[in-house]
Amino acid sequence: MIDTYGRDIYYLRLSVTERCNLRCRYCMPEEGICKKKHEEMLTENEMVQAVEVAASMGFRKVRLTGGEPLVQKNILSICQRVAAVPGIQEVCLTTNATLLPELAKPLREAGVSRLNISLDTLDEEKYTYITRRGRLEEAMSGIEAAIAAGFQKIKINAVLIGGFNDDEIEKLAELTLCYPVDVRFIELMPIGDSEEFGQEAMIPCEEVLRRLPQLTPCEHDGGVAALYHLPGALGNVGLIRPISQHFCDTCNRMRLTADGKLKPCLHSSQEFNIKGLDKDGVEQQLKEAILAKPARHAELSAKHRSESGRNMNQIGG
Ligand code: GTP
Ligand code: 5AD
Ligand code: SF4
Repeated sequence: MIDTYGRDIYYLRLSVTERCNLRCRYCMPEEGICKKKHEEMLTENEMVQAVEVAASMGFRKVRLTGGEPLVQKNILSICQRVAAVPGIQEVCLTTNATLLPELAKPLREAGVSRLNISLDTLDEEKYTYITRRGRLEEAMSGIEAAIAAGFQKIKINAVLIGGFNDDEIEKLAELTLCYPVDVRFIELMPIGDSEEFGQEAMIPCEEVLRRLPQLTPCEHDGGVAALYHLPGALGNVGLIRPISQHFCDTCNRMRLTADGKLKPCLHSSQEFNIKGLDKDGVEQQLKEAILAKPARHAELSAKHRSESGRNMNQIGG
């Protein structure tokens, strides 16, 4: 469906859970989440129904997110059923990879076409620091399991944090020399009541180009990243610049949270409930949500935090 600003909205980001086995400092608070009641969350049937309605309105791509989607017990069944919805051409999933050693192969068999993986550092201690509890080795084994399971076009997401991983830009980008993956640097977004990072942490992706002058621009794949290539690399280096160069004018996304709220914009507090509704009700709300999509989000900086009203794990990125 086309929105008020002429954008074709065809990409649904469906968060299947707010829970996560990690606690990334820019994403969620240390003590996790105040647990919502089971009855407040979408059931598997409601998720599938929402995808069916979305597909009937022209949605073609679904990304399953979280929290961490792989901690959700019925994730394989959700993937299978979403992939079988007529009109859905691509089912992708964003994960921290730690559970991929067991799940990469079953996910592929369930119809997941692509994986995006969060990895901010290649240093063991820093990994445990930023995730507050994770082990680098588990994430790396997950990436290898995904490649071994035959996933193509895997994208590694690294949130760029000044004073934390800007000294690793080269090392992270060089993953594209030895693995058939894209590595995308993402500007840190000030959102939710996650740990606050100061202005010095919010560095522009331009820094990646400064550090790696050998990067050459290459063709855009329709996603949110500007793409570059290192000589001899197997994959691309991407820059996602929600702060320094927002991409709202080409936004094609609608978000559905695990508690059943459609979010027209990542950084707006406006939400449309679909929990408990039948197909007609969901269709009505989805239409309204698309028509309510703003032209762009408000200014973001260390001083101007996102107006989303949620932590990132309660939205799904
Ligand atoms: P592809 O299907 O591979 O293009 O995936 P993707 O980039 O849409 O999804 P992913 O889950 O890997 O998200 C990458 C980063 O982009 C995350 O940090 C998201 O929060 C951010 N992002 C995705 N969509 C938007 C958006 O509409 N606005 C902003 N500001 N950031 C977004
Ligand atoms: N700023 C930028 N990216 C973020 N992510 C989570 N929180 C933030 C934030 N505050 C990223 C994760 C994951 C993706 C879905 O969103 O690293 O890769
Ligand atoms: Fe979990 Fe992903 Fe948030 Fe990290 S960024 S805490 S892995 S949901």
